[in-house]
Amino acid sequence: MTRSFLDLADAGAAGVRLMLDEAVARKKARAGLPKGAADRDAPLAGHTLAMIFEKNSTRTRVSFDMAMRQLGGTTIVMDSGSMQLGRGETIADTARVLSRYVDAIMIRTDDHQKAVDLAKYADVPVINGLTDRSHPCQIMADLQTILEHKGRIEGLGWAWLGDGNNVLHSIVEAGSLLGFPVRIGCPEGYDPDAGILAEARARGGGILLSRDPVEVVRGADVVVTDTWISMGQAHAEEKLAAMMPFQVDEARMAQAAPDAAFLHCLPAHRGEEVVDAVIDGPRSLIWDEAENRLHAQKAVLLWCLGKLG
Ligand code: CP
Ligand code: NVA
Repeated sequence: MTRSFLDLADAGAAGVRLMLDEAVARKKARAGLPKGAADRDAPLAGHTLAMIFEKNSTRTRVSFDMAMRQLGGTTIVMDSGSMQLGRGETIADTARVLSRYVDAIMIRTDDHQKAVDLAKYADVPVINGLTDRSHPCQIMADLQTILEHKGRIEGLGWAWLGDGNNVLHSIVEAGSLLGFPVRIGCPEGYDPDAGILAEARARGGGILLSRDPVEVVRGADVVVTDTWISMGQAHAEEKLAAMMPFQVDEARMAQAAPDAAFLHCLPAHRGEEVVDAVIDGPRSLIWDEAENRLHAQKAVLLWCLGKLG
């Protein structure tokens, strides 16, 4: 059985937990191996992942490429501008053709519907490597990082400060699936998608949306933020000014739980959403978080290709 991973809900709580356990175990099992060496079982030997990028990427591109190598497979990396997709070939036709060549497709796109359509018309699994709506692979890595550092996920309180964006949407979804409350601090006009909040609440997710950053961060176990201007958005002084009260600085971190962790998907805009003293400080887990993109995505690939559960 193969299956797509466009959002965390596609795997459900059980699937997400299965992938997290696999990611943690596989990371431990390859300790000491050179980064380019395959895992001992090379479970995706003979498999190829095609990656389509409509937007820039460092982590997603390299971590998926290395993930496939470590699983024993290979990759083809394409920028949409150099594909016929960039000249108007449809997503449906692209999906049908790529399905004849490769075993799975990852796409990073500005329009979530393109990922949905790709999955609809492809005969192979499609993985969301970031859309305007969500970033589920990032949150798999975030969850793995919290699990490794705190020993559990359930019940820990997350505080999001800043823009109501794609990364936040996947955190909200994760909270509702795995049972952790998410408090959100956004300036008016930059809220997350109301439909995504409603879906999460319908699943029982505990969500607070507030204009008060102190209320949001007070006692939180995990403090998380992201760029105020996502890829494809216009740089707007007005937006930056509205976001300033939601900047994560040392004073804000001091309002969280004493052992609160700081997460950021990167790339960071130091001096905007977060200051150096926090992102480089003792509670920042950003380098483990970035590394875990690799391990978490190996589990995602195995789940999509029917090798897990
Ligand atoms: N966090 C993340 O997705 O990074 P890239 O944009 O570098 O892939
Ligand atoms: N919200 C950011 C995440 C980048 C990894 C963006 O969409 O640009």
